[in-house]
Amino acid sequence: MARPNSTLSSQGIASGPRPGAVLAALHDLQERHGYLPEDGLRAAAKGLGVPLGQVFSVAAFYDGFRLEPRGRCLVEVCQGTACHVRGADGVARAFQDETGAPVGGSSEDMAYSVENVRCIGCCSLAPVARIDGQVFARLTPKKARSLVRREAPQ
Ligand code: FES
Repeated sequence: MARPNSTLSSQGIASGPRPGAVLAALHDLQERHGYLPEDGLRAAAKGLGVPLGQVFSVAAFYDGFRLEPRGRCLVEVCQGTACHVRGADGVARAFQDETGAPVGGSSEDMAYSVENVRCIGCCSLAPVARIDGQVFARLTPKKARSLVRREAPQ
């Protein structure tokens, strides 16, 4: 009976880059560009000796990777249950109207990106949003609009 490792090796499954190499390459790429440009993904696949499709699937699987460029200011609106029932949809619409960035996209001038995210761990302060990593609590559409004016990117 063949040992599991030799079976895997004979099928080519055990060969390839060390575990985590694709993830590490994607992290580096996103750190440099703010997102994962297609030519960078192609170069990473070639450098690691793995199919481009495999690199794309890893990039698409993890929420933390972005395949599109992002605006200079990132607005993340929590759509977890607590935030949703306390009016997160209205808050998201207010951010969208004030920034000109559709939820899930960026404004034409690339000043803003607005994204929906799941629970960010401040449910008792719902509805909440993060702007460039800073959490803002108990939001209303009016507060959201004034935050955009106050936190406008330069
Ligand atoms: S549901 Fe929004 S912070 Fe938890």
